[in-house]
Amino acid sequence: MMQQPPLIDPFARAITYLRVSVTDRCDFRCVYCMAENMAFLPKKDLLTLEELDRLCSAFIGLGVRKLRITGGEPLVRRDILTFFRAMGRHLDSGALDELTVTTNGSQLEKHATALWEAGVRRVNVSLDTLDPDKFARVTRWGRLDQVRRGIEAAQAAGLRVKINTVALKGFNEDELFDLVDWCAAGDMDLTFIEVMPMGDLGNDYRVDQYWSVRDVRARLEERFTTVDLAERTGGPARYVRLAETGQKIGFITPLSHNFCESCNRVRVTCTGELYMCLGQEDRADLRAPLRAHPGDDGALVGAIRAAIAAKPRGHDFDYSRQRADGQVSRHMSHTGG
Ligand code: 5AD
Ligand code: SF4
Repeated sequence: MMQQPPLIDPFARAITYLRVSVTDRCDFRCVYCMAENMAFLPKKDLLTLEELDRLCSAFIGLGVRKLRITGGEPLVRRDILTFFRAMGRHLDSGALDELTVTTNGSQLEKHATALWEAGVRRVNVSLDTLDPDKFARVTRWGRLDQVRRGIEAAQAAGLRVKINTVALKGFNEDELFDLVDWCAAGDMDLTFIEVMPMGDLGNDYRVDQYWSVRDVRARLEERFTTVDLAERTGGPARYVRLAETGQKIGFITPLSHNFCESCNRVRVTCTGELYMCLGQEDRADLRAPLRAHPGDDGALVGAIRAAIAAKPRGHDFDYSRQRADGQVSRHMSHTGG
């Protein structure tokens, strides 16, 4: 692939991390993510696996070193392992450092080995509770035992598993130490995420679910000594180590901590919309240049460069006035988690 000038945004941030949603569908209906009756996109609107390949490869040609596949639930998309295998060639060539996936775990039992063979080494699994009944309630359609089998299969295949837990007031506050202990026993890292005001514009119910990860950390410190880690991923996560167990715990604080100045990432939806910032409506259509020029990526690359030149400084999420200010209208399953 020809070496091109890297992607640098107006705030001198190099864009080296791409998150791509490959489907808006999911086999769960988590209460903070989806409505019970979601209307999904018609298939013709989705990028084909070939278009996803061209798009990701173009970004990699422009200096993207890390690719995360998200959804919806990425592993419910038909034939998605073909796409993972195709991206594996960029790992083989050295153009890509890492290929990862964020999943609800429901299909991991089936796909863990193939993911490893495609070059995936780490997976993020979303799991908010270890109680089967609560799990069924928060995911509406999910089954905890299936996810736990998926996690076991992933580890048996050699994949490192990180657990992502959305901190939900009155829901999993009482499980904080159980989750920490469970992850320690299974040699898994754990990250707590604040619930974000995505989707359901005009509905402020997430304010009631909001449990600040600052409070999560304070609660952890009742039992553990936390040591700040310098590690930064260019995203909203901050990490600590628990001195007593050596465990690494992450906190994703889009609302209580500003992380935008080090942002290194952009997101593409399953329809080829490039969102330059998770918390803003600004976007660029990459599907049109993909489809208008099937054999030539010049227009696509031009559209990517123009979009990065307009990447916003940061998000405007703010709960401090007890309303979901700065809220964006799309659901997380649209932009990808
Ligand atoms: N706020 C915070 N996290 C969310 N996720 C989905 N919707 C929201 C939201 N509104 C998380 C999932 C998963 C990842 C894909 O995004 O729990 O960890
Ligand atoms: Fe599906 Fe993840 Fe959204 Fe839950 S949070 S409905 S598992 S995409």
